[in-house]
Amino acid sequence: MIEAPPKPTASPAAANPARSFGTALLDRIGNTPLIQLDRLTARLPGVQLYGKAEWLNPGGSVKDRAASSIVAAARRAGQLGPAAPGKSLLDATSGNTGIAYAMLGAAQGFPVTLCMPSNVSVERKRILAAYGANILWTDPAEGSDGAIRLARKLAAEQPDKFFYADQYGNDNNWRAHYYGTANEIWEQTAGQVTHFIASLGTSGTFMGTTRRLRELNPAIQCISMQPDSPFHGLEGLKHMATAIVPPIYDPTLADRNIDMATERAYAMAKWLGRHQGLLIGVSAAAAVAAAFQVAEEEAAAGREAVIVTILCDSADKYLSEHFWTEPNEADAALAARLAP
Ligand SMILES: Cc1ncc(COP(=O)(O)O)c(C=O)c1O
Repeated sequence: MIEAPPKPTASPAAANPARSFGTALLDRIGNTPLIQLDRLTARLPGVQLYGKAEWLNPGGSVKDRAASSIVAAARRAGQLGPAAPGKSLLDATSGNTGIAYAMLGAAQGFPVTLCMPSNVSVERKRILAAYGANILWTDPAEGSDGAIRLARKLAAEQPDKFFYADQYGNDNNWRAHYYGTANEIWEQTAGQVTHFIASLGTSGTFMGTTRRLRELNPAIQCISMQPDSPFHGLEGLKHMATAIVPPIYDPTLADRNIDMATERAYAMAKWLGRHQGLLIGVSAAAAVAAAFQVAEEEAAAGREAVIVTILCDSADKYLSEHFWTEPNEADAALAARLAP
């Protein structure tokens, strides 16, 4: 029998009250792990596929990175926080950035006002209410563009009341990924990454990560993914040809763009849940579908590849959607490609 270790006479904390035994919540933003999607590449020799597990950020998505970078810069500039008492952060958001702002506001003590289409999922509405954010609902028919127009109007009318964070035009959005996400991917793959694939919403994730990866190795293929039509179910993403184009978006940066059908993303989300044990959000599943397409192409060409994509969030906020239990044609197409 192994002897139990002696019981401490007093807790270490009591012995040294200044010592801390955990981390600050906001220090957990970034440094997310890479998850290997090995079931998808089982029949693709020489090809490895990884997803960066962004739901492990404390606000539950990749947007913690951009939001915390934007907020930190605003606090440094005295536009928010103790130097600007009562001033509210204001932005348009389809959900995840709002959740990140709301978390930061609650943790750091500044008010948060969000403009958002009223058709966002019930899970998102409840999360934002729980953080105590103030929400201004916009017409769902106008999509995220309607929310942007309202935020711009309020910011112009009441500059003393609001700090307009403007995630679509704020360089601190993509810089979060330039300084964080890209270097993490480089280190986690020991510089072996050959392809980077990310979806386009504000485009901050793709812009910042691509700019830095290109500096580290110009040969890395950087591929953007966006919805294949203006009316789509890929929450958080923009169909650039028909949307208000984010000022931070540079369409010349990508080596290539993949247009993604919503049904393909649904099929991949279901497949990963049932065969990889991974429940991810719809835009994350769309990114994996694009990355899998690239993985198949590389294997067919006989090339080795280390492909990394971004899993923006988990399935938690999408579980009320019906597609999880409704078969579609893309399910059969995907199953055929992955048949043993
Ligand atoms: C679920 C989801 N996926 C993808 C994105 C796109 O990320 P980015 O704005 O960095 O392009 C967002 C952005 O809000 C999102 O909420």
